[in-house]
Amino acid sequence: MNSTDGVVRNGLPGRGLVSQGLVSQGRDFLAIPGPTVVPDQVLSAMHRPAIDIYTGSLVAVTDSCLAALKSVFKTGGDVYMYAANGHGAWEAALSNVLSRGDEILVLQSGLFATTWGESGALQGLRAQVVAGDWNQPVNYEKAEEALRSDKNHNIKALLAVQIDTASGVVNDVPRLRRLLDDTNHPALLMIDCIASLGTMPFLMDEWRVDVAVAGSQKGLMMPPGLSFVATNAKGKAAHQNANLRTHYWDWTFRDGPEHYMKYCGTPPEHLMFGLKCALDMLLEEGLDAAFMRHQLLADAVRSAVSAWGGNGLMSLNIQDPSARANSVTTVVLADGMAPEVLLDWCEVNAAVKLGITIGDLHGKGFRIGHMGYVNAPMILGVLGVIESALYANDWEFASSGVAAATEQLGSALKSI
Ligand SMILES: Cc1ncc(COP(=O)(O)O)c(C=O)c1O
Repeated sequence: MNSTDGVVRNGLPGRGLVSQGLVSQGRDFLAIPGPTVVPDQVLSAMHRPAIDIYTGSLVAVTDSCLAALKSVFKTGGDVYMYAANGHGAWEAALSNVLSRGDEILVLQSGLFATTWGESGALQGLRAQVVAGDWNQPVNYEKAEEALRSDKNHNIKALLAVQIDTASGVVNDVPRLRRLLDDTNHPALLMIDCIASLGTMPFLMDEWRVDVAVAGSQKGLMMPPGLSFVATNAKGKAAHQNANLRTHYWDWTFRDGPEHYMKYCGTPPEHLMFGLKCALDMLLEEGLDAAFMRHQLLADAVRSAVSAWGGNGLMSLNIQDPSARANSVTTVVLADGMAPEVLLDWCEVNAAVKLGITIGDLHGKGFRIGHMGYVNAPMILGVLGVIESALYANDWEFASSGVAAATEQLGSALKSI
């Protein structure tokens, strides 16, 4: 079957006729870092008629989701659910605890803390940004300097992400807590764990995070459309004086006695049915087991990239191995290599959709999402498809990433 003339031989089409998509029939795999794969169980849970929004089983669904979210955030504080994406949760978080003109200290480590800060500026806050590199965690030293020099405590909140989905970095949240403690700074600690919750430890109460935001569409295995804000007593105290509060986001209204007030209107019922199922699945697996699964699969991905890139073809964007996220890997290609060649090949030929790089890294590489409902065959499959793309496009790589990943995973599992 070496035909390149478009003629069907032995029942199979020649290359000229159908050179693309020959191995794509089957389940598509979305390997972008969110939204992520939604389990069939979750999809089925949403496939049901609408029900009453004031009484009955929906009330129990709400209670169950709130209790489960507290377990996932590891908090005894309050959790609020919004029919919104992550941008909505950002706005909800800021508007509930801050007032017009308040200063926020934004720690950059890629794209998302910065855009959260920009969103705050549009709400009327004054954002001071501690610049960071796109291949490293936040600049802890510069953050400490900014806190120490803020003698009058004008900074009311420190904003950072736990995992930056653009750069693939993980920031050390307990260290941020220590920065505030060591400088005796009373600012609220506000953390975006949109790309980390459910994939790695997040200990809200133990770390004394005052406000945490998350979204449904990544580690929580749900479609986009729901987001969550968790807060503690300090966040609730700040809420009392916050003048950025608006009706829809307002925690006080949502603390009201009626069920519909928890949603400030009609609950997104079907998303709630799905969320209950997804959280039940996560807690049934066990958070520690889910974190370990993410660690093992992320290690496999990193081994593959390092093997392919041994000749300089590609590299892991985050330099420090301990600062690499377990939910997403950002890969930078050598100068002159066009990522769209690889991305298009994977999508057209093998139904695998990889993530593009964004922000400062736009056009420089690709991202592999490995969070949420993913297991070994899914991730090893993605790596196999990428390696096939390297062969198909004559991109010379140092050694087999698939071999490195399977060896990494097999050895790790043997030693557990
Ligand atoms: C870490 C992080 N924060 C915030 C957002 C924004 O969330 P959304 O796109 O749902 O508004 C994203 C989206 O990818 C993200 O990865």
